[in-house]
Order: sequence, then structure tokens, then C-alpha cells
Amino acid sequence: MNILTFDTEEQLNEAGAGVLSGMVQMNPSAILGLATGGTPIGIYEQLVQTYKRGLVSFNKVTTFNLDEYVGITPEHHQSYSYYMRQHLFNQVDINIEQAYVPCGTATDLEEECVRYDRLIENTGQIDIQLLGLGHNGHIGFNEPSHALLSGTHIVELAEATKTANARYFSAEEEVPQKAITMGVGMILKAKNILLVVKGEDKAEIVKRALTGPISTNCPASLLQTHPHLTVLLDRAAGSLL
Ligand code: F6R
Repeated sequence: MNILTFDTEEQLNEAGAGVLSGMVQMNPSAILGLATGGTPIGIYEQLVQTYKRGLVSFNKVTTFNLDEYVGITPEHHQSYSYYMRQHLFNQVDINIEQAYVPCGTATDLEEECVRYDRLIENTGQIDIQLLGLGHNGHIGFNEPSHALLSGTHIVELAEATKTANARYFSAEEEVPQKAITMGVGMILKAKNILLVVKGEDKAEIVKRALTGPISTNCPASLLQTHPHLTVLLDRAAGSLL
């Protein structure tokens, strides 16, 4: 495990974007696993700058997002599909046909899970999976539980997750209760994992995830078993290590 701690958010974002763009510069047909949420926004901004400066092209890249809310259409401004178009896909030369986000409004959600896993497996091994970290230790939307699922599946979001997500919705009843998420098995199959965490409010869970016992009660602790894990932290998130 390689842990890098940065003094400023700007440095952290530049480092994160540098890892992702470096991967694409070395392998223009790279397969990227992407995340949403507040944490990677600055990284995507930097990545767009790198593209605009002519240093990288995404036109042969394939991307798979980790998750999507159930019941929210891709056009909804809080969908993860919308988020990805807003922060990255619409601003770079990616082929949108190769930028996949699971569909939370599929008529048959179980079938959508199977389709998504098959799509990833038929495309190839994810070269690098970008991850944020939930306050309760979730990765993707794999919430703490006595057991975790390997493949893409539908999850009931934890209360803590719904509370954290509520900041993006205008009314409590609009906050999605369920999500479709890549499973931990698929996440751990990625060749490289890039975990990014910011803020003092995540310091405790960073410590648990990276140094605590490996347990399904803290899904991110399973990352300790990955042979190529890089962790990017700001000083506050890394303050208890
Ligand atoms: C998002 C995702 C989630 C977030 C996590 C942290 O695609 O999979 O696991 O990474 O909830 O969210 P933020 O970055 O908003 O603190």
C-alpha cells in the first residue's frame, strides 16, 4: 500500500489527475473505473485541464462507473450519469458509447446487474479503479454488513449514507433509498486501486480502513488485501494514521 499525504487540496487533485492521465498516456485504450461524490470533483477538473492543454486524449478509453441511484433517470440532475457528463464526459473527447454507468431505472434491475458485470468482463480488466470513502467505510455503495456481495447488485442505502446524500436533494422524500453498485469482488479485480479521501471528518474511518482489522463491517478494509493500492489523503484525512 502506497499512502501519499498532501498539504493542499490542489496538490492532491493534481496528483490524482496525474495518476489517471498517466495511465491513459501509457495505455490510450485504458479501462478506467470511476467514482462520483464530492471527493473526485477536483480531480476531474484537473483531468479536464490536462486534456485541454493537449497532454492526454480519452478517445480510446473505456470507463465504468461504480454506482447509480435506483429510480433516478440518467437525465436527473442528481443522477451519477448526469454528474459524470457534467464533470468529465462532456468536457473531454471520450466516446460516450464507451462511458458506462449502471442504469438505475432499468425495468429489470437484477438483469441490469448481470448485464453490467458481463459488460465489464467482456471488455477486460479495469486498469485503475478510482474510489472515494464513505463515513461508514463503504466503497461504491457496498455498505457495512455481515456479508458482502462480489458482483454488481442492488443495495438498500444505509441511514448514514442517506443522511450524507441528502445535502444534494431539495426534500427528504427525494433522497434515494436504493442504489445499484459494483460489488467488492469486481472492485478488487481492478489492476490498480486509487483511493482518495479528504477532510477531518473522514480521519477516523481512514484509520479503521487502512490499519484496522479486515472486516465486512468496514468494506474499505478489504482494500488492504489489494496488491496495488494507492491512497491519496489530505493532511486532515490522514491525521490519525
Ligand atoms: C460514489 C461512491 C461513494 C462515494 C462515497 C464518498 O460513486 O461510490 O462510495 O465515493 O460516498 O462520497 P463523498 O466523496 O461525497 O464524500
